[in-house]
Amino acid sequence: MKNYNSGIAVFLMLLVLALYTEPASSQKLSIDQRVDSLLKLMTLEEKIGQMNQYSGFEEATGPVTEEADKLEQLRRGMIGSMLNVTGATKTRQAQEVALQSRLRIPLLFGQDIIHGYRTIFPIPLAEAASWNLEAIELSARVAATEASAAGVHWTFAPMVDISRDPRWGRVMEGAGEDPYLGSLVAVARVNGFQGNGFGSPDALMACGKHFAAYGAAIGGRDYNSVDMSLQHLHNDYLKPFKAAVDAGVATMMTAFNDINGIPATANKYILRHLLRDEWNFKGFVVSDWGSVGEMINHGYSADEADAAKAALLGGCDMDMESRCYIKNMKNLVLSGHISESMIDESVRLILRKKFEMGLFDDPYRFCNEEREKQQWDNKEHREIARNIARKSIVLLKNDKSLLPLKENVKTIAMIGPLVKAVGENNGFWSYSWPDDSARIVTQWQGIRNRAGEHVNLLYAKGCEISEPDSSGFKEAVEIAMKADVVIMSIGESANMSGEAKSRSNIQLPGVQEELIKAVYATGKPVIVLINAGRPLVFNWTADHAHAILYTWWLGTEAGNAIADVVFGDYNPSGKLPMTFPRSEGQIPVYYNYFNTGRPPKDENDLNYVSAYIDLPNSPRFPFGYGLSYTSFSISEPELNTTTITAGEELSIRVTVANTGNADGTETIQLYFRDKVGSLVRPVKQLAGFQQVFLKKGESRTLIFTLTEKDLRFYNENLEFKSEPGEFEVFTGNSSDNVKGKTFYLK
Ligand code: BGC
Repeated sequence: MKNYNSGIAVFLMLLVLALYTEPASSQKLSIDQRVDSLLKLMTLEEKIGQMNQYSGFEEATGPVTEEADKLEQLRRGMIGSMLNVTGATKTRQAQEVALQSRLRIPLLFGQDIIHGYRTIFPIPLAEAASWNLEAIELSARVAATEASAAGVHWTFAPMVDISRDPRWGRVMEGAGEDPYLGSLVAVARVNGFQGNGFGSPDALMACGKHFAAYGAAIGGRDYNSVDMSLQHLHNDYLKPFKAAVDAGVATMMTAFNDINGIPATANKYILRHLLRDEWNFKGFVVSDWGSVGEMINHGYSADEADAAKAALLGGCDMDMESRCYIKNMKNLVLSGHISESMIDESVRLILRKKFEMGLFDDPYRFCNEEREKQQWDNKEHREIARNIARKSIVLLKNDKSLLPLKENVKTIAMIGPLVKAVGENNGFWSYSWPDDSARIVTQWQGIRNRAGEHVNLLYAKGCEISEPDSSGFKEAVEIAMKADVVIMSIGESANMSGEAKSRSNIQLPGVQEELIKAVYATGKPVIVLINAGRPLVFNWTADHAHAILYTWWLGTEAGNAIADVVFGDYNPSGKLPMTFPRSEGQIPVYYNYFNTGRPPKDENDLNYVSAYIDLPNSPRFPFGYGLSYTSFSISEPELNTTTITAGEELSIRVTVANTGNADGTETIQLYFRDKVGSLVRPVKQLAGFQQVFLKKGESRTLIFTLTEKDLRFYNENLEFKSEPGEFEVFTGNSSDNVKGKTFYLK
């Protein structure tokens, strides 16, 4: 019986093999059919192999698990995906080994392409400060073009975690605190990475991460627990994820944290109920690095087998680096704890993406050395990077219009530990290349090139970023004395924000603020450039410096972008995507708070109200804030009606006039407040914005619309509904500078 059948089996296998490897162009079989044919050929071990992802041979981006004989496992089809295999040659080599496996299933190569690959763009939080969705999409598109030419199929981005806590170092990777802005940025990034769709060789699969609520880690301490009502989760933290899913994001990554006691990696409510059933997500879910195995530390799983079981039942299809799946899943199936059909379900989703990416038709189409070389020094990409970098800079202060620098400036003193820094400009989550010092435009070079030979440029470092040594102050003061104006470049080092980079103290590190004080005492006009991956606390500087540009980390073109703004070739237009606290004690501080039963009347009101006795409630710089070299006047909003019903539109007209002396861009923001709700509603929530470029003297009327749909929220029963009643709509150029009108929803 056995022998007789095996002849037929071999014949059938050859037939099916021929079918699934048939080029897609023949159009005879759908991808689903090809996936099913392949699945039928796979042993249980091979299926589990597809659910297994290892870090490759490059630098690890997490704690290294025990070594495995990766090449041997590749040959046996025990690895479905690898991350951190960098470059066309290396991905090709790894792919060649994978194709020696019995069924020749190609590998998927994943990588953290967070803000550029070869050309480094501003950190995502900085890009979000541009509020320019087109530029953000283009940045992701360029990153995809460069990374896909180097063999990458899949980026672990966008990170769409909302966060209200600047102590959390990973705020640098996201779009800040607001669910509305965060959702639009998420969509722009997904569209940018995924380009014209899978199948085109420069489309990367995107990955929405970290699902979910990772940005609400208690105390801003990375990997910490999250305790949050489901209403808050839905109304704020899940929105960008939902937007990414609706935009067709290929994959999602689970978060390290537990949510209300259940680790996100095994969280059925999040991964199965919401993502699969309610949101109809068709891609696959990957764990975060080791997060399956970490459920033992959480105290949720007894051992690795238990963790593998919980994660798969929870809805996690691929295990990044914990190795719990590859080591335990077979036994879990054989012992009846996991059904093979559940394995099939996950493997199907993974294979489907490999087919969609065209890897079965040509597993090497992404690892193309020629194409990689063409992208190695792409001037157009640098221009695009410079453009978004200057749009990301936020002008926080500009006393007496010190900026832009005027023609009469003959000597500039550049002071600070970041003036001549090279690699720091790239920020966390970026690649270092051997020729970085030749490629990255330092702030010194940017200013030097733009200032021209007639301007005398002096330099003193003054101090290190974090060291207590102030012996360099003297030299700094001396050169300041010789200058017409001082530009100080200070801030964090790039690796002070990012993963595992939580800080309890988010003030300027080391003696940098002391250095600013010493230079300020010379009486010279002082412009401060603040480089950071998060909102920092810098009260003395905010009170005294004459001008402040928040430059975040701007990437390869940092120096040029900063020079563009300093000399007025670009009039700054950035707006803060996150609230800047006055002190760490205020955190979390955010613009869309609830009013409470005892709101203070004003900043001096301490009469049994919800306030600190030692600090105003207001932040140092509010969400949506950012100055320009020109001034704008913004009219009151005018409404077409005061009452709308479902199906009707409220149209809001605002006239903006450029009343200053320079052409410039303003971002008009639309907020609303639901005055009475079955759940308390925020005092303000962003529901629209428009950027408008106006020449000096020019004005324009902008029209916004709101409908009943925009007024919905998740209520006590998690129904997404609006509630009739009174609303206020506000327009302005910062969350704290708005004018409002009342309207009603019937
Ligand atoms: C991070 C992820 C990242 C992964 C792979 C993890 O430590 O949390 O965001 O994609 O490593 O590098």
